[in-house]
Amino acid sequence: MRPYYPARTILNVSPLCGAAPVGIFDSGLGGLSVLRAVRALLPAERLVYVADSRYAPYGQRDDDFIADRTLAIGEWLVAQGAKALVVACNTATAQSIEFVRERLPIPLVGVEPGIKPAALQSKTRVAGVLATQVTLRSARFQALVERHAADLRVLCQPGHGLVEAVERCDTGSPELLALLRGYLAPMLDAGADTLVLGCTHYPFLDTAIRSIVGERMTLVDTSVAIARQLERVLGQHGLLADTAGDAQSSARFCSTSDGAHLRMLAAALLGIDAQVESVRIPSRRTLELETDAV
Ligand code: DGL
Repeated sequence: MRPYYPARTILNVSPLCGAAPVGIFDSGLGGLSVLRAVRALLPAERLVYVADSRYAPYGQRDDDFIADRTLAIGEWLVAQGAKALVVACNTATAQSIEFVRERLPIPLVGVEPGIKPAALQSKTRVAGVLATQVTLRSARFQALVERHAADLRVLCQPGHGLVEAVERCDTGSPELLALLRGYLAPMLDAGADTLVLGCTHYPFLDTAIRSIVGERMTLVDTSVAIARQLERVLGQHGLLADTAGDAQSSARFCSTSDGAHLRMLAAALLGIDAQVESVRIPSRRTLELETDAV
């Protein structure tokens, strides 16, 4: 059973305003695909990105661990002055967004696999979904399929090993291609014409995936839709940054590990030369693991 957390425990929050940053969080580097879309759509927003790389991947963690980390990082971002939080992790959203939303005093935007767009565009009525085991077995994902894909054959494939590959900046090694081929070949054989990238790490594998599926599949990545949802939510709360003048998106990058891979991936995939801060965000489940550290 999940331990008791009182709702909305954080009182030390300065009044929210448009100039405050948006927090973006992922278990690791995958949320950079969401950050890329947010920067493109909302260039005036200041961003603070947290990669929980020390504890990635979340996909094989237990539910309580994921909720514990998501809440701790959300609280940390609130303490940094964040006006909104994007949980740029399908796994953390699927498992804990309601729990965390009740406990943070800022608006939250989550991510979920693009089942609805897949159902709208698949012609063969067969679609593949690559996501973590936690996402695929969540009640939230099952409800999404029931709601939007009743007439679609949905082939769910846990992407074991893919998050780990992106975390070490491997987006195209022969081993990774072999792993992907094993996941995608059965989908192609079953006639799937659409592939839902149900984990924010996977858009960084699009070239590798494309080299296997060619033009036979449409890839569904929801990062642009998430950026639009963030724009709507900030607008509803009167929290959009002022776009007057030479507003230029700025981003602060933080990692719970040494940050070297975050810096490497941000440079390779986003063209950003990021200074990465190594931050300590202890939580109930990691306190013991961190007592020897730093
Ligand atoms: N980017 C996360 C997601 O979208 C990866 C989860 C993990 O760490 O396993 O699900």
